[in-house]
Amino acid sequence: MRIVVTGGTGFIGREVVDRLLESGSDEVVVTTRNPEQDPWGGRVRLVQAFAGDHVSLGKAFMAADVVVHAIQFPNHPVEDPSRGRTYLEVDGKGTTVAAQTAKKLGVRRFVYLSGAGAGQGRPQPWFRAKDMAEAAIANAGLEHVFLRPSWIYGPRDRSMNRFVFFCRRLPVVPVIGDGRTPVYPISVKDVARCVVESARRADATARAFELGGKRMTMDEVVRTIQAVLGRRRPLLHHPVGLMKLLVLPMQLLPQPMLSASAIDFITQEVEIDPRPAAEYFGFPSRPLADGLREYLP
Ligand SMILES: NC(=O)c1ccc[n+]([C@@H]2O[C@H](COP(=O)([O-])OP(=O)(O)OC[C@H]3O[C@@H](n4cnc5c(N)ncnc54)[C@H](OP(=O)(O)O)[C@@H]3O)[C@@H](O)[C@H]2O)c1
Repeated sequence: MRIVVTGGTGFIGREVVDRLLESGSDEVVVTTRNPEQDPWGGRVRLVQAFAGDHVSLGKAFMAADVVVHAIQFPNHPVEDPSRGRTYLEVDGKGTTVAAQTAKKLGVRRFVYLSGAGAGQGRPQPWFRAKDMAEAAIANAGLEHVFLRPSWIYGPRDRSMNRFVFFCRRLPVVPVIGDGRTPVYPISVKDVARCVVESARRADATARAFELGGKRMTMDEVVRTIQAVLGRRRPLLHHPVGLMKLLVLPMQLLPQPMLSASAIDFITQEVEIDPRPAAEYFGFPSRPLADGLREYLP
Protein backbone atom coordinates (compact mmCIF):
# COMPACT_ATOMS: atom_id res chain seq x y z
CA MET A 1 0.00 0.00 0.00
CA ARG A 2 1.01 3.59 -0.41
CA ILE A 3 0.29 5.40 2.87
CA VAL A 4 0.56 9.18 3.17
CA VAL A 5 1.12 10.60 6.64
CA THR A 6 0.32 14.30 6.76
CA GLY A 7 2.15 16.02 9.60
CA GLY A 8 4.46 12.99 9.56
CA THR A 9 7.32 14.98 11.07
CA GLY A 10 5.21 15.79 14.14
CA PHE A 11 4.98 14.18 17.54
CA ILE A 12 2.44 11.49 16.59
CA GLY A 13 3.09 11.37 12.85
CA ARG A 14 6.73 10.54 13.33
CA GLU A 15 5.96 7.60 15.58
CA VAL A 16 3.43 6.36 13.02
CA VAL A 17 5.98 6.61 10.21
CA ASP A 18 8.61 4.78 12.28
CA ARG A 19 6.15 1.99 12.97
CA LEU A 20 5.16 1.73 9.31
CA LEU A 21 8.84 1.54 8.34
CA GLU A 22 9.53 -1.19 10.92
CA SER A 23 7.39 -3.67 9.02
CA GLY A 24 8.66 -2.37 5.69
CA SER A 25 5.65 -3.57 3.71
CA ASP A 26 4.21 -0.19 2.72
CA GLU A 27 5.42 2.73 0.67
CA VAL A 28 5.40 5.76 2.98
CA VAL A 29 4.91 9.37 1.91
CA VAL A 30 5.21 12.19 4.45
CA THR A 31 3.89 15.70 3.97
CA THR A 32 5.78 18.56 5.54
CA ARG A 33 6.15 22.27 5.02
CA ASN A 34 9.95 21.83 4.93
CA PRO A 35 10.86 18.81 2.78
CA GLU A 36 14.58 19.54 3.15
CA GLN A 37 14.43 18.01 6.66
CA ASP A 38 14.54 14.20 6.39
CA PRO A 39 14.81 12.35 9.70
CA TRP A 40 14.46 8.99 7.88
CA GLY A 41 17.48 9.25 5.61
CA GLY A 42 15.66 8.68 2.32
CA ARG A 43 13.41 5.81 3.49
CA VAL A 44 10.24 7.86 2.93
CA ARG A 45 9.22 10.26 0.18
CA LEU A 46 8.81 13.79 1.51
CA VAL A 47 6.32 16.04 -0.24
CA GLN A 48 5.80 19.69 0.54
CA ALA A 49 2.16 20.35 1.47
CA PHE A 50 0.22 22.93 3.43
CA ALA A 51 -2.96 22.62 5.46
CA GLY A 52 -5.96 23.80 3.43
CA ASP A 53 -4.07 23.83 0.10
CA HIS A 54 -5.63 21.28 -2.25
CA VAL A 55 -2.92 21.68 -4.88
CA SER A 56 0.02 20.69 -2.68
CA LEU A 57 -2.03 18.05 -0.83
CA GLY A 58 -3.14 16.64 -4.18
CA LYS A 59 0.50 16.13 -5.22
CA ALA A 60 1.11 14.21 -2.00
CA PHE A 61 -2.05 12.09 -2.24
CA MET A 62 -1.46 10.96 -5.83
CA ALA A 63 -1.85 7.15 -6.14
CA ALA A 64 -2.21 6.78 -2.36
CA ASP A 65 -4.35 4.05 -0.79
CA VAL A 66 -4.54 5.52 2.69
CA VAL A 67 -4.10 8.98 4.20
CA VAL A 68 -3.26 9.30 7.88
CA HIS A 69 -4.02 12.91 8.79
CA ALA A 70 -1.98 14.24 11.72
CA ILE A 71 -1.44 17.98 11.19
CA GLN A 72 -1.58 20.39 14.09
CA PHE A 73 -0.85 24.12 14.13
CA PRO A 74 2.46 25.20 15.69
CA ASN A 75 2.43 26.30 19.35
CA HIS A 76 -0.80 24.39 20.00
CA PRO A 77 -2.94 24.93 22.09
CA VAL A 78 -2.26 28.67 21.79
CA GLU A 79 -4.06 29.92 18.69
CA ASP A 80 -2.65 32.70 16.52
CA PRO A 81 -5.45 33.95 14.22
CA SER A 82 -3.14 36.52 12.58
CA ARG A 83 -1.18 33.60 11.04
CA GLY A 84 -4.14 31.27 10.43
CA ARG A 85 -3.04 29.03 13.28
CA THR A 86 -6.45 28.20 14.69
CA TYR A 87 -8.50 25.07 15.30
CA LEU A 88 -11.04 26.20 12.74
CA GLU A 89 -8.48 26.89 9.99
CA VAL A 90 -6.13 23.94 10.46
CA ASP A 91 -8.22 21.19 12.05
CA GLY A 92 -11.63 22.17 10.67
CA LYS A 93 -11.19 23.71 7.23
CA GLY A 94 -7.75 22.13 6.64
CA THR A 95 -9.05 18.61 7.22
CA THR A 96 -12.11 19.30 5.07
CA VAL A 97 -9.88 20.22 2.13
CA ALA A 98 -7.65 17.20 2.79
CA ALA A 99 -10.63 14.81 2.82
CA GLN A 100 -12.16 16.25 -0.37
CA THR A 101 -8.79 16.17 -2.14
CA ALA A 102 -8.22 12.57 -1.04
CA LYS A 103 -11.60 11.53 -2.39
CA LYS A 104 -10.99 13.26 -5.73
CA LEU A 105 -7.69 11.45 -6.13
CA GLY A 106 -9.15 8.03 -5.42
CA VAL A 107 -7.72 7.52 -1.94
CA ARG A 108 -9.60 4.64 -0.34
CA ARG A 109 -9.24 5.28 3.38
CA PHE A 110 -8.73 8.29 5.64
CA VAL A 111 -7.47 7.77 9.20
CA TYR A 112 -7.94 10.94 11.21
CA LEU A 113 -6.23 11.93 14.44
CA SER A 114 -9.22 13.56 16.04
CA GLY A 115 -9.41 14.18 19.78
CA ALA A 116 -11.11 13.07 22.99
CA GLY A 117 -14.50 14.75 23.31
CA ALA A 118 -15.12 14.95 19.57
CA GLY A 119 -18.46 13.71 18.26
CA GLN A 120 -20.46 15.02 21.20
CA GLY A 121 -21.46 18.42 19.79
CA ARG A 122 -19.49 20.35 22.39
CA PRO A 123 -19.34 24.10 21.79
CA GLN A 124 -15.64 24.92 22.35
CA PRO A 125 -13.67 25.81 19.17
CA TRP A 126 -11.40 22.74 19.35
CA PHE A 127 -14.41 20.39 19.50
CA ARG A 128 -16.29 22.26 16.79
CA ALA A 129 -13.25 22.00 14.53
CA LYS A 130 -12.84 18.27 15.17
CA ASP A 131 -16.58 17.74 14.58
CA MET A 132 -16.38 19.71 11.33
CA ALA A 133 -13.40 17.60 10.23
CA GLU A 134 -15.06 14.28 11.07
CA ALA A 135 -18.27 15.28 9.27
CA ALA A 136 -16.32 16.36 6.18
CA ILE A 137 -14.42 13.06 6.04
CA ALA A 138 -17.60 11.00 6.42
CA ASN A 139 -19.47 13.15 3.87
CA ALA A 140 -16.66 12.81 1.36
CA GLY A 141 -17.56 9.13 1.13
CA LEU A 142 -14.17 7.79 2.18
CA GLU A 143 -13.57 4.69 4.27
CA HIS A 144 -12.64 6.27 7.57
CA VAL A 145 -11.44 5.72 11.10
CA PHE A 146 -11.61 8.50 13.67
CA LEU A 147 -9.15 8.11 16.53
CA ARG A 148 -9.99 10.32 19.51
CA PRO A 149 -7.04 10.19 21.89
CA SER A 150 -6.84 11.72 25.34
CA TRP A 151 -3.45 13.07 26.51
CA ILE A 152 -0.61 11.50 24.49
CA TYR A 153 2.90 11.40 25.92
CA GLY A 154 6.27 10.23 24.67
CA PRO A 155 9.89 11.30 24.23
CA ARG A 156 9.02 14.16 21.86
CA ASP A 157 5.87 15.54 23.46
CA ARG A 158 5.75 19.14 24.60
CA SER A 159 3.12 18.75 27.26
CA MET A 160 3.76 15.85 29.66
CA ASN A 161 7.48 16.57 29.36
CA ARG A 162 6.89 20.08 30.66
CA PHE A 163 5.76 18.48 33.92
CA VAL A 164 8.81 16.19 33.80
CA PHE A 165 10.93 19.34 33.58
CA PHE A 166 9.03 20.98 36.47
CA CYS A 167 9.40 17.86 38.62
CA ARG A 168 13.14 17.73 37.93
CA ARG A 169 13.98 21.40 38.27
CA LEU A 170 11.49 23.23 40.47
CA PRO A 171 11.08 23.10 44.25
CA VAL A 172 7.27 23.03 43.80
CA VAL A 173 5.30 21.76 40.80
CA PRO A 174 2.73 24.22 39.40
CA VAL A 175 -0.63 22.70 38.43
CA ILE A 176 -3.39 24.82 36.88
CA GLY A 177 -6.75 24.15 38.53
CA ASP A 178 -7.53 21.97 41.51
CA GLY A 179 -5.58 18.95 40.25
CA ARG A 180 -8.71 16.84 39.89
CA THR A 181 -9.13 17.26 36.12
CA PRO A 182 -9.58 13.76 34.67
CA VAL A 183 -7.12 12.58 32.00
CA TYR A 184 -6.40 9.23 30.36
CA PRO A 185 -2.70 9.40 29.43
CA ILE A 186 -1.64 7.12 26.59
CA SER A 187 1.81 6.41 25.18
CA VAL A 188 2.46 7.63 21.65
CA LYS A 189 3.67 4.11 20.87
CA ASP A 190 0.23 2.71 21.70
CA VAL A 191 -1.45 5.42 19.62
CA ALA A 192 0.84 4.70 16.66
CA ARG A 193 -0.03 1.01 16.89
CA CYS A 194 -3.75 1.85 16.67
CA VAL A 195 -3.13 4.19 13.73
CA VAL A 196 -1.24 1.57 11.76
CA GLU A 197 -3.90 -1.06 12.47
CA SER A 198 -6.56 1.43 11.38
CA ALA A 199 -4.71 1.92 8.10
CA ARG A 200 -4.25 -1.78 7.41
CA ARG A 201 -7.17 -3.76 8.78
CA ALA A 202 -9.82 -4.46 6.18
CA ASP A 203 -12.68 -4.17 8.67
CA ALA A 204 -11.44 -0.88 10.16
CA THR A 205 -13.83 1.52 8.53
CA ALA A 206 -16.68 3.83 9.55
CA ARG A 207 -15.46 3.56 13.12
CA ALA A 208 -14.54 5.99 15.89
CA PHE A 209 -12.39 5.00 18.84
CA GLU A 210 -11.56 6.85 22.01
CA LEU A 211 -7.94 6.16 22.92
CA GLY A 212 -6.55 6.41 26.41
CA GLY A 213 -4.98 4.65 29.33
CA LYS A 214 -6.24 4.43 32.88
CA ARG A 215 -8.33 7.35 34.19
CA MET A 216 -6.16 9.58 36.39
CA THR A 217 -6.39 13.04 37.90
CA MET A 218 -3.80 15.69 37.01
CA ASP A 219 -2.34 15.34 40.49
CA GLU A 220 -1.99 11.58 40.04
CA VAL A 221 -0.16 12.16 36.75
CA VAL A 222 2.33 14.49 38.43
CA ARG A 223 2.77 12.10 41.36
CA THR A 224 3.45 9.27 38.89
CA ILE A 225 6.11 11.35 37.11
CA GLN A 226 7.69 12.10 40.48
CA ALA A 227 7.65 8.43 41.47
CA VAL A 228 9.36 7.47 38.19
CA LEU A 229 11.97 10.20 38.67
CA GLY A 230 12.36 9.43 42.37
CA ARG A 231 11.79 13.09 43.32
CA ARG A 232 8.88 14.08 45.51
CA ARG A 233 8.05 17.79 45.63
CA PRO A 234 4.90 19.60 46.78
CA LEU A 235 2.26 20.50 44.15
CA LEU A 236 1.10 24.10 43.94
CA HIS A 237 -2.41 24.56 42.55
CA HIS A 238 -3.18 27.80 40.71
CA PRO A 239 -6.83 28.84 40.35
CA VAL A 240 -7.89 28.89 36.69
CA GLY A 241 -9.29 32.46 36.86
CA LEU A 242 -6.07 33.84 38.35
CA MET A 243 -3.94 32.04 35.74
CA LYS A 244 -6.01 33.50 32.93
CA LEU A 245 -5.25 36.98 34.25
CA LEU A 246 -1.57 36.23 34.76
CA VAL A 247 -1.09 35.02 31.17
CA LEU A 248 -2.60 38.17 29.64
CA PRO A 249 0.77 40.00 29.26
CA MET A 250 2.19 36.90 27.52
CA GLN A 251 -0.07 37.66 24.56
CA LEU A 252 2.42 40.36 23.54
CA LEU A 253 5.08 37.70 22.87
CA PRO A 254 5.45 36.18 19.38
CA GLN A 255 4.92 32.60 20.74
CA PRO A 256 3.16 32.86 24.11
CA MET A 257 3.37 29.69 26.21
CA LEU A 258 -0.27 30.03 27.33
CA SER A 259 -3.45 31.97 26.65
CA ALA A 260 -6.82 32.10 28.39
CA SER A 261 -8.39 29.73 25.89
CA ALA A 262 -5.39 27.39 26.01
CA ILE A 263 -6.01 27.20 29.77
CA ASP A 264 -9.61 26.22 29.05
CA PHE A 265 -8.29 23.56 26.69
CA ILE A 266 -5.90 22.00 29.18
CA THR A 267 -8.30 22.12 32.13
CA GLN A 268 -11.37 20.82 30.26
CA GLU A 269 -13.07 17.74 31.64
CA VAL A 270 -13.45 14.98 29.08
CA GLU A 271 -14.35 11.47 30.11
CA ILE A 272 -13.73 8.70 27.59
CA ASP A 273 -14.22 4.96 27.33
CA PRO A 274 -11.02 3.35 26.05
CA ARG A 275 -12.35 -0.23 26.38
CA PRO A 276 -13.82 -0.63 22.85
CA ALA A 277 -10.46 0.40 21.35
CA ALA A 278 -8.54 -1.98 23.61
CA GLU A 279 -10.88 -4.76 22.56
CA TYR A 280 -10.78 -3.95 18.86
CA PHE A 281 -7.02 -3.39 18.58
CA GLY A 282 -6.35 -6.28 20.91
CA PHE A 283 -4.15 -4.72 23.55
CA PRO A 284 -4.55 -2.53 26.63
CA SER A 285 -2.48 0.65 26.62
CA ARG A 286 0.53 0.54 28.93
CA PRO A 287 0.34 2.14 32.38
CA LEU A 288 1.76 5.68 32.57
CA ALA A 289 4.63 4.70 34.88
CA ASP A 290 5.78 1.98 32.43
CA GLY A 291 5.50 4.30 29.44
CA LEU A 292 7.52 7.00 31.20
CA ARG A 293 10.22 4.55 32.32
CA GLU A 294 10.80 3.60 28.68
CA TYR A 295 12.23 7.02 27.91
CA LEU A 296 13.05 8.84 31.14
CA PRO A 297 16.55 8.08 32.38
N1 LIG B 1 -0.52 15.46 21.14
C1 LIG B 1 -1.62 15.03 21.78
O1 LIG B 1 -1.63 14.80 23.01
C2 LIG B 1 -2.91 14.83 20.99
C3 LIG B 1 -4.03 14.36 21.66
C4 LIG B 1 -5.22 14.17 20.94
C5 LIG B 1 -5.26 14.43 19.58
N2 LIG B 1 -4.14 14.89 18.95
C6 LIG B 1 -4.25 15.17 17.50
O2 LIG B 1 -3.21 14.52 16.77
C7 LIG B 1 -2.87 15.31 15.61
C8 LIG B 1 -1.35 15.47 15.55
O3 LIG B 1 -0.92 16.10 16.73
P1 LIG B 1 0.65 16.23 17.11
O4 LIG B 1 0.70 16.50 18.57
O5 LIG B 1 1.44 15.12 16.53
O6 LIG B 1 0.99 17.58 16.31
P2 LIG B 1 2.36 18.40 16.16
O7 LIG B 1 3.53 17.57 16.50
O8 LIG B 1 2.22 19.69 16.88
O9 LIG B 1 2.33 18.82 14.62
C9 LIG B 1 2.20 17.92 13.58
C10 LIG B 1 2.76 18.47 12.29
O10 LIG B 1 1.85 19.37 11.67
C11 LIG B 1 2.61 20.00 10.62
N3 LIG B 1 2.03 21.32 10.33
C12 LIG B 1 1.86 22.36 11.18
N4 LIG B 1 1.26 23.39 10.55
C13 LIG B 1 1.06 22.99 9.26
C14 LIG B 1 0.49 23.61 8.12
N5 LIG B 1 0.01 24.87 8.13
N6 LIG B 1 0.45 22.89 6.97
C15 LIG B 1 0.94 21.64 6.91
N7 LIG B 1 1.49 21.00 7.95
C16 LIG B 1 1.55 21.68 9.12
C17 LIG B 1 4.04 20.11 11.12
O11 LIG B 1 4.90 19.54 10.17
P3 LIG B 1 6.06 20.38 9.40
O12 LIG B 1 6.64 21.33 10.41
O13 LIG B 1 7.02 19.32 8.95
O14 LIG B 1 5.37 21.07 8.29
C18 LIG B 1 4.04 19.27 12.39
O15 LIG B 1 5.15 18.40 12.49
C19 LIG B 1 -3.65 16.61 15.74
O16 LIG B 1 -4.80 16.55 14.92
C20 LIG B 1 -4.06 16.65 17.21
O17 LIG B 1 -5.26 17.36 17.42
C21 LIG B 1 -2.98 15.09 19.62
